[in-house]
Amino acid sequence: MELHIYKNATETCKGLAAWIAKLIDDTLLVKENFIWALAGGSTPKELYALLSSAPYDQKIKWDRVHIFWGDERMVPFSDNMNNAKMAWDELLSKVKIPEKNIHKIWTDIKPEESAAQYEKMLHSYFDDKPVTFDLVLCGIGEDGHTLSLFPNEKTPDDMWVAAVHSKEKGERITLTPSVVNRSAAVAFLVLGENKAGILQHIFEYSPEKKYPVQQIAPLNAQLHWFVDEDAAGRIG
Ligand code: 6PG
Repeated sequence: MELHIYKNATETCKGLAAWIAKLIDDTLLVKENFIWALAGGSTPKELYALLSSAPYDQKIKWDRVHIFWGDERMVPFSDNMNNAKMAWDELLSKVKIPEKNIHKIWTDIKPEESAAQYEKMLHSYFDDKPVTFDLVLCGIGEDGHTLSLFPNEKTPDDMWVAAVHSKEKGERITLTPSVVNRSAAVAFLVLGENKAGILQHIFEYSPEKKYPVQQIAPLNAQLHWFVDEDAAGRIG
């Protein structure tokens, strides 16, 4: 596990953008494509905006990047709460990534059907490979959720994609720990004082797997945390 702490949100996003660009470059030296599951929520917006502008808009070989999502809210793509829409607005509409490389989670069909469809697609990408995603980018909620893995909501661990019917957060589709933990790299981006409490619990108080985020423990990969000082204020 590697903890990268930066002064503020912008510096953290700049550090993570540089780290991602280097990971993509290094991966594409040995692989045809870079397969990346994006995070949703609001935290990654500044990171995506950075990656959509100089130097990353030209530096990254976007035509060899394939985009998936770690989770999705079951709302139309036109809805501002849709994670794919946020990534499209902030990043994907501004870089030269072929449409065929963008693999959205379908939100105009039943959740169970959407989960089954995404699961099938992931198996077509990864079944014959020992490693799944080259990078899974995640955020974290103040309650210790990540992706759409919520406290008190069990997801099947024999599946790679699950439909979650959360009373609080509504209908969601989420990757499960089993596929995320087989990825080559996992990076969390955590910004702001409101996340300081959950980071303190995770890093200091609860070594046991109490929070959903603690189910993310990549088998053969580094787990990276990119955190600003506000969010890191109560750890270390
Ligand atoms: C989502 C995300 C979710 C998010 C956290 C943090 O769809 O909401 O995948 O796991 O990363 O809820 O959200 P913020 O970045 O908005 O704090």
